[in-house]
Amino acid sequence: MIRICMIGTGYVGLVSGACMADFGHRVTCVDILPERIAAIENGDMPFYEPGLDTLVAKNVDEERLDFTTDLAEGMREADVVFIAVQTPQSEGSGEADLQYVWEVGKQIGERLDGYKVIVTKSTVPVGTARKLRTIIAGSVQQPVEFDMASNPEFLREGSSIEDFMRPDRVVIGTESERAEKLMREIYRPLYLLDTPIVHCPRIETAELIKYASNSFLAVKISFINEIATLADKVGADVSQVAKAMGLDRRIGGKFLHAGLGYGGSCFPKDTHAICHIATAHDERMSIVEAAIAVNAELPARAVAKAREMLPTFGGQTVALLGLSFKPNTDDIRCAGSRQIVQTLLDEGATLRVHDPVAMDNFREVYPDLTYCKNAYEACQGADLAFLVTEWNQYRQLDFAHLGEIMRGRRFMDCRNVYSHRRADEFGFEYRSFGRPQTPAGVQT
Ligand code: UGA
Repeated sequence: MIRICMIGTGYVGLVSGACMADFGHRVTCVDILPERIAAIENGDMPFYEPGLDTLVAKNVDEERLDFTTDLAEGMREADVVFIAVQTPQSEGSGEADLQYVWEVGKQIGERLDGYKVIVTKSTVPVGTARKLRTIIAGSVQQPVEFDMASNPEFLREGSSIEDFMRPDRVVIGTESERAEKLMREIYRPLYLLDTPIVHCPRIETAELIKYASNSFLAVKISFINEIATLADKVGADVSQVAKAMGLDRRIGGKFLHAGLGYGGSCFPKDTHAICHIATAHDERMSIVEAAIAVNAELPARAVAKAREMLPTFGGQTVALLGLSFKPNTDDIRCAGSRQIVQTLLDEGATLRVHDPVAMDNFREVYPDLTYCKNAYEACQGADLAFLVTEWNQYRQLDFAHLGEIMRGRRFMDCRNVYSHRRADEFGFEYRSFGRPQTPAGVQT
């Protein structure tokens, strides 16, 4: 059993802390926000993540997990201190804003009273751990030994607990054998699953692995979206192209789903950050830059496709199904829905929207939309419907019923969930990404 202090109860910190406690370690999560700590202790999670409340409750009950606002208390017994505070993107530059990381580093140094491993878990620019070591060393109050490590997370929102419990790999960057041993011990329960542990003796390698992985996935998504654009022009079906490409094991079938592109906090932030890191070293990430550019165009493309069915939006009623950047999360950061909503509002459309969990967050940005209790209420009287997020609830819509309640039978499928054949059957005009109707009338 390792004693762990997890600093930051955001997405990464709270999920990782609860999962490490579930591995059998003793975890104290620290956050400076007393209301957040009180809410978590009360069972109210600060964000929607399937299964998290149950996992937290179980580990609190079994006395492996607790919460505090007092860093000294959290660190007192800890063998390993994880830093999982937010690293927002700086306004304009794309650089990660590390003010919270540096501040926490200073505070850790001031409270260090015996050997500990200090680990960066938040995604931080290459070189951060090394700089953090200097900051910590500069603020210690007594001669004390400590080691640095980088242990990037690869959790997806919406399935983070499963991702933590069954990862494809664990990456540990540290130059110290003692720290490596402690870190391996934390992940020992995964040895049963034969999870590869990648130990990087250069801490910068571990830091770069995280950016390279996220950027590569973003490139993969933008690549298939660019192929979808071409498929539209040449009359090919991108879904089949992706499927056949993916069957080549060198390519792999995942992250080749064309549509509205990537959103959320990770891919948009990390792709910009890696470009910024490269620029700071007089290099360019031209492939990642291209992926960013392709992704940025997609919401406008969705609107343009909708316009083929409904040339003016002014005075029309438009339904939006899904607001979060992907299913199973209430996160609306960089969600494609935002740009679509803004364009439609600017052109004078009336919007009726629904999302299973993200409506409260969306209402804070757009208070004046009509928020509905389900997809059918949103589509009531609509001239056009956008399927924006592929929540399970929207995968089996009753098109016969939609046809009766909508004023116009027009469907913009931003996630390629349905088919021309299905839409045609119920008399709907239909658009998606990269799956045009063939000139011969053979429908996809
Ligand atoms: C991503 C990575 O997948 C995680 O490994 C990583 O730990 C995390 O970022 C992070 O850095 O913290 P996440 O942003 O939660 O996780 O979501 P993903 O499931 O990766 O999806 C990202 C976006 O890509 C979504 O908007 C999704 O709709 C889109 N996407 C995904 C596609 O458009 N097509 C695909 O084929 C796959």
